[in-house]
Amino acid sequence: MDEVKVGIVGLGNVGMGTLTILAENQEQIALKLGFRLRVTAVCSRSVESKKLPAALGPVFQTTDWRELVKHPDVQIVAELVGGTVVAAEILDAAIEHRKSVVTANKELMAASGPEIWDRAIRAGINLAMEASVCGGIPIHAVLREGISGDRVMALYGILNGTCNYILTEMEKRNVPLEVVLKEAQRLGYAEADPSADVDGYDARSKLVLLAALAFGEKITPSDIFMEGIRRITEVDFRYARQLKHSIRLICGARRIPEGIILSVRPALIPASTILAGVQGAYNAVWVKGEYGEDTFYYGWGAGALPTGVAVVSDLMRVAREIRSGSPERVSPFAHERLGGNKPVPVTLQKRCYFLRFRVDDRPGIIAKLAGILASKKIGLEAVLQEPCDTKHDLPFVITTEETSEQSIREAVEEMSGLDFLNEAPLALPMETAL
Ligand code: HSE
Repeated sequence: MDEVKVGIVGLGNVGMGTLTILAENQEQIALKLGFRLRVTAVCSRSVESKKLPAALGPVFQTTDWRELVKHPDVQIVAELVGGTVVAAEILDAAIEHRKSVVTANKELMAASGPEIWDRAIRAGINLAMEASVCGGIPIHAVLREGISGDRVMALYGILNGTCNYILTEMEKRNVPLEVVLKEAQRLGYAEADPSADVDGYDARSKLVLLAALAFGEKITPSDIFMEGIRRITEVDFRYARQLKHSIRLICGARRIPEGIILSVRPALIPASTILAGVQGAYNAVWVKGEYGEDTFYYGWGAGALPTGVAVVSDLMRVAREIRSGSPERVSPFAHERLGGNKPVPVTLQKRCYFLRFRVDDRPGIIAKLAGILASKKIGLEAVLQEPCDTKHDLPFVITTEETSEQSIREAVEEMSGLDFLNEAPLALPMETAL
């Protein structure tokens, strides 16, 4: 049986998970392919300290990725180092040496994936990136091929496992975000610097990639409205529950007549929806097609083995193409050419809103807030207030009738100057139509 030869750059969690699968599952993989996928080279800054699975057999080991990329016994390079600087150099070098690339790198692909794909096409090689979004969910394959005959109208994702773990623990245990974040850091679910996750950057890079696949647009990450989860409190979950809703960090993408509207933000979602059932560090993507209507994808968003499966499956796909010499590659962005339309401003979005206030209590507060809402033509739906021991930091909630994000922003801006507020109002959209 002939073989296709693979070099792996980066032996962190995902790299080691990938090697484990390639070693332990090699018979299954060979049965599916009809030939062997063999790891011929690995590269890591600490390669000497890595224990490679014995079943891989002899493997060239180096600390210099350049040696691996140009090694004559490497046909596919798996770039699993992350970051954007060295990773970009590795991809450039692989393309220059006409070697196909499998990558798990969402930041790099979100920032410059389409340009890298153009170069890959010109070099006659392939570029695969299933592991870059929702490690354990084959969402690229679904959008690229599985439902490519449909016209995606909307996509809603829970794309950051760390945030989902934090939010669902807060909800279950009625504890503050800082407590759960510290636990998550201790358990290794959250980084020491949690900003990429809790402030929304990680989810935003993933949404850039899914929006390209779903809608064929090349989106600049900073053009997506992004709000993290730091302001969510356990009190918000209690009020959301009274409204039969839950709170999740939702990556939303929708076609509206004016274009595509994109956002990464905490939102209220009905407790009865399938997305609200997504607990812990799981990810999920809900796609609404014009013809096929609703499909839902669920699984681990990260982790050595789930993400390793995505890398190995990409390696298998690329290896098949190498063996068959197929010139008909499907773009990793699901479209031959991406458009350059900017997303529509989120201020056009119309929703009901959940407004949470923390106030130093005194008479006339509701009247004042209601007056500001009325001046923006925003109708009140409900006022909710739990019994509270203190008058000095009293939380309560107003929900509104459907209005535009623009009107809500103007109202929140005006309210923020009021002296009885302990902090600016928190405004969350209610995704009641999910
Ligand atoms: N930190 C990410 C998450 C996993 O929590 O989902 C890698 O993208």
